[in-house]
Amino acid sequence: MKILVLNGPNLNFLGIREPEHYGKETYEDLCSMIRRHAEEIGAEVSIYQSNHEGALVDAIQEAYGKVDGIVINPAAYTHTSVALLDALKSVSIPAVEVHISRVESREAFRQVSYVRGACMATITGKGFQGYLEAMDLLMKQGRRQA
Ligand code: DQA
Repeated sequence: MKILVLNGPNLNFLGIREPEHYGKETYEDLCSMIRRHAEEIGAEVSIYQSNHEGALVDAIQEAYGKVDGIVINPAAYTHTSVALLDALKSVSIPAVEVHISRVESREAFRQVSYVRGACMATITGKGFQGYLEAMDLLMKQGRRQA
């Protein structure tokens, strides 16, 4: 099972940006947790972060035919990007949307998610743990399809 973890803008600043929402652990800490978990569950994982919408679209397109599941935290692009929604729909790879913070309890503009329409599940407010749960969901889905 090959899983791609995608992170959108400003998530490379985890540990620095708004710790009251995103905690004190860094992006590197997140990547280590994801890699450790992948080993535990027997998944092959690649992790990519970009501050650019088009680069994230490219990463989704490049996953076509190569990746079995996508974990995506589109960050601010969650609330604006039809391009990411269309990219996920284009490749038809099972995807799970993750948010570190509980977006539904924050500003009104964070209540809209475009990518949600192309995701099998959404996990919010569980911190970094949400990424691991998303990987577990994709593994379960993969087993169901095998
Ligand atoms: C976020 C929530 C978004 O609203 C915000 O723009 C982010 C991070 C989260 O992980 O909680 O950058 O996706």
